[in-house]
Amino acid sequence: MSEQPIDTCMEKIVSLCKRRGFVFQSSEIYGGFNGFWDYGPYGIALKRAVERQWWLYMVEKRNNVVGLDSSIICHPKVWKASGHVDRFGDIMCDCKQCKTRFRVDQMPDPTTCTNCGSKDLTPPREFNLMMKTYVGPVFDEEHIAYLRAETCQPIFLDFHSIRIATRMQLPFGIAQVGKAFRNEITPRMFTFRSREFSQMEMEFFCADEGSMEWFEYWRQERWNFYLNVLKFPVEKLHLHPHDKLAHYAKAAVDIEYEFPFGWGELEGIHHRGTWDMSQHQQFSEQDLQYLDQTNNTRYLPTVVETSVGLDRMVLAILCNAYDEDRAPTQKEGMEDDVRVVLHFPATIAPVQVAFLPLSKKLNQNAQDLQAKFLGRYRTELDVTGNIGKRYRRQDEIGTPYCVTFDFDSLEDNAVTVRERDSMAQERIPIDNLRAYLDEKVLG
Ligand code: GAP
Repeated sequence: MSEQPIDTCMEKIVSLCKRRGFVFQSSEIYGGFNGFWDYGPYGIALKRAVERQWWLYMVEKRNNVVGLDSSIICHPKVWKASGHVDRFGDIMCDCKQCKTRFRVDQMPDPTTCTNCGSKDLTPPREFNLMMKTYVGPVFDEEHIAYLRAETCQPIFLDFHSIRIATRMQLPFGIAQVGKAFRNEITPRMFTFRSREFSQMEMEFFCADEGSMEWFEYWRQERWNFYLNVLKFPVEKLHLHPHDKLAHYAKAAVDIEYEFPFGWGELEGIHHRGTWDMSQHQQFSEQDLQYLDQTNNTRYLPTVVETSVGLDRMVLAILCNAYDEDRAPTQKEGMEDDVRVVLHFPATIAPVQVAFLPLSKKLNQNAQDLQAKFLGRYRTELDVTGNIGKRYRRQDEIGTPYCVTFDFDSLEDNAVTVRERDSMAQERIPIDNLRAYLDEKVLG
């Protein structure tokens, strides 16, 4: 799966993802395809819910950010203008002894193999990360096009169309969620570095004056998202300001998360100056300046970007949620046993409420109750196995609430609601169930 050793915790997460159908290798029956992943039913439910929270936070709860869904393939000149065709690559070398491939800039000593110590290395070579395709009937140089390497470029291209259509004035942002493709030389750490992945990016267009205040604002907003929406513990997060800045940038900072394999970049918040707009102005030969009607001046907007990989965010959520504790068991001779549990916040859990009939005879009753909540929460009806096993199965996929319909329910019109983290159980009248769950699940 990964070319590098991963520690036990990571192995357990990867194995749980496969076993419970969150994420597994693409094209598995053909031996897999390195750097490509498929999300099964729970995985896609989680991914969609996370994307939904990002969109709510970044677009729908504001009146100064609007959305875009652009094509994946755009004019090849776009990638020339952005610098991706000429400069988007890694300098790599291979060890001739152990065949390990390295990014030269990541080697402590570029003359020595980090893996086996050999000095027999290939000369450094440049690999471009853009994925190529052909558009049109002829497969030649003239018809080369690229799958986008980042979702932000079309935002710059569409800035004026969107501004005119929405009558937005600076400062305002444009957000996009979608696929990006990079021919990564060393895809690794499960979905952390993939060749096909989704990005969630927002470009905030403003005047240069005041742009650093916007940079600070978005840095804080993004930090708050991890703490308040995803409920990450603060000690698992880290702000990493860039030491070396691109010549056009005034500031850049990454939000890092402590994965089981170490600190890794989750998101970048970048002050991009007028670089992107000026490159596209030059290559398209169009005037991309903004007319500021407040003081009748024309200028290229300055851009502050927030950019995060959705798959990487989902991986961090899985790592953060994964836990093993002890819970009562019905296994012979044992009072308790290891419980694998995913502590997802209820807003993003793939299944928010599971309905469990205590006996086969009550299956229809539980199903009728579930029917009342379909479309309101993400639900599941779980009818097989003893109740302890079913709780364990739900814990393992991170379901925050299990509703058990038992024989008493027929008499008292109430159900038992069991909370995942505390395992506490509460008897709730069915008439109050919606209000009770709304408060817990929808927040
Ligand atoms: N528009 C700026 C940009 O794309 P980036 O640092 O190259 O910047 C932004 O990528 C984010 O996209 C990263 O912080 C990471 O979360 C995600 N990302 C980048 N490459 C990735 C890959 N190969 N696999 C998964 N996620 C990736």
